[in-house]
Amino acid sequence: MAHNLLQGKKGIIFGALDEKSIAWRTALKCHEEGARLVLTNAPVALRMGEINKLADTVKAPVIPADVTNMDDLKKLFEASMEHFGGKIDFILHSIGMSLNVRKNKPYTEIDYGFNQKTLDISAMSLHRVLRTAWDLDALNEWGSVVALTYIAAQRVFPHYNEMADAKALLESVARSFGYHYGSHKKVRVNTISQSPTRTTAGSGIKGFDGFVTYAEKMSPLGNATSDDCASYCVSLFSDFTRMVTMQNLFHDGGFSSMGVTEEIMVALEK
Ligand SMILES: NC(=O)c1ccc[n+]([C@@H]2O[C@H](COP(=O)([O-])OP(=O)(O)OC[C@H]3O[C@@H](n4cnc5c(N)ncnc54)[C@H](O)[C@@H]3O)[C@@H](O)[C@H]2O)c1
Repeated sequence: MAHNLLQGKKGIIFGALDEKSIAWRTALKCHEEGARLVLTNAPVALRMGEINKLADTVKAPVIPADVTNMDDLKKLFEASMEHFGGKIDFILHSIGMSLNVRKNKPYTEIDYGFNQKTLDISAMSLHRVLRTAWDLDALNEWGSVVALTYIAAQRVFPHYNEMADAKALLESVARSFGYHYGSHKKVRVNTISQSPTRTTAGSGIKGFDGFVTYAEKMSPLGNATSDDCASYCVSLFSDFTRMVTMQNLFHDGGFSSMGVTEEIMVALEK
């Protein structure tokens, strides 16, 4: 059921690859809640063509941008403001990619060239997005920026590999830029730390099914789905969360507060 929580708001959604993507689900939910949208992804991802289905549904233009390319980002923000006829109210950063994971390099043997790319795409890209918006004065006061992260930034999940370091950096950028943008323009910046979710990026992690099952058994509410995550994003883009900024917000059915559950103990005692 829609509540018009984003009526009159305008947002850019980064990272909708296919219908499993968290960004895809969030775009649908933002549209349902009355927002106007611009969709964007890396040119190589757009070539797969799936995003056009989403664009038709949510009536949004698709503007290509490699998030590591400042010219692309500048063009994206300029074209978005032109499309909206004004400034932007919210941004979803739903981007992650690890070259070392892709190339099956274990954490102890990572290639540092790949590692730099991973950190740039998955973490510093948030700085690049915020910096571009800042330089162009593209965000309205009380605007809201959300990036997606994972609890491997705080605790070790061995096969999450260098992405753990990327997520720690991403969360730090959200806090640091959140200070500057908050005091400068009252723009809020937060990260959502989402349960493991079956998507293209998620499934690239070795032993991913194990992550999902373990988290499910460790979370009193079970794992949060991508649709649950989309609803949480809507609440953070809405005016009901205006004083929330510089936070890493766990959206994980309680996983992050658990030591062990009855279910896991029973399974281990067998
Ligand atoms: N799936 C999970 O289990 C899970 C859990 C917690 C957090 N997250 C995070 O959620 C976010 C979205 O991932 P997802 O699970 O929906 O997977 P996804 O594969 O659907 O989305 C990742 C997106 O990043 C985009 N991308 C990669 N390189 C890019 C570049 N250079 N420029 C622009 N875009 C680029 C991809 O094209 C893709 O659309 C990521 O930050 C991911 O780390 C995912």
